[in-house]
Amino acid sequence: MKIAIIGIGAIGALWAYKLQQAGHQVLTMTRDKSPTQLQIQLDDNPIQTFSANALSQLTTCDVILITVKSTQVNQAIAPLYSFITAQTPLIFLHNGMGALDTLGKQWQQHCLYLATTTQAAFKPSSQQVKHTGHGLTLIGRYQAHQPALSQHLLSQLNLALPSVIWDDNIQAALWKKLAVNCVINPSTAYYHCKNGALTQEQYHAQLHALIQECHQVMQLAGPAFPLDELQQYIYQVIEATADNYSSMYQDIQHQRPTEIDFITGFLLKKAKQYDLHLPTHSALYQQIKKLENDYS
Ligand code: PAF
Repeated sequence: MKIAIIGIGAIGALWAYKLQQAGHQVLTMTRDKSPTQLQIQLDDNPIQTFSANALSQLTTCDVILITVKSTQVNQAIAPLYSFITAQTPLIFLHNGMGALDTLGKQWQQHCLYLATTTQAAFKPSSQQVKHTGHGLTLIGRYQAHQPALSQHLLSQLNLALPSVIWDDNIQAALWKKLAVNCVINPSTAYYHCKNGALTQEQYHAQLHALIQECHQVMQLAGPAFPLDELQQYIYQVIEATADNYSSMYQDIQHQRPTEIDFITGFLLKKAKQYDLHLPTHSALYQQIKKLENDYS
């Protein structure tokens, strides 16, 4: 297959490497449009060279993976509109929710899919990627009327970077991931700690309040998970990623825009629609916004 990857961060680089290794023709699209080639080394494997930024090639792609952050979705794909046909499946993979709602109306005729993953990767330098945790990628429809992805496409993705599974109820998976990100990301960014530190006694009350407020919104706006199940799931992710610095922690450290508006901001917007007040999330949201505003 001919596959384009838009956004060569850690997860984009991992997918690019794995897909090319599996024999597919991979085109990479980077924020800086000038390079025509890109080199990536995955762990200790040989370096691979990729074609980069060949815009006209997008038209004949079998599938396009968009792995930019939620904050960059719109600006990354808007300039590519005239090169992408309405039949090409576009799979969006990022933290947070609501990013596709900001796309212009012209994209509504396209085949848009949402994905969420527990694969973990880290980019120690611009040409290196480390696969730090093996996981599961779920893909589902953005709009109910869309057809499912073809079995052929799903099995090729699954062969390249297992496991990939079609999920008819992707919204439930996205909400679960949103709850994880709402609890872990702003907390670790604000308290300057690794994910694992959040299990310490001093954060118990704060985490409990954050999880309970998430649960309140999910009961009305998302999938209904029992509170203890949600709590258990979030603590499992904290333990599985104990040694990681969350993406929001890293964004704050590097003075980059965070995904707070598509994580806690999305939760607060939903809460408002149901007249719910979330004091703990609101306070954390303001604290992250303050850190962003204080960038030098
Ligand atoms: O954004 C992140 O950092 C990750 O989604 C997660 C799961 C919180 C692990 O660090």
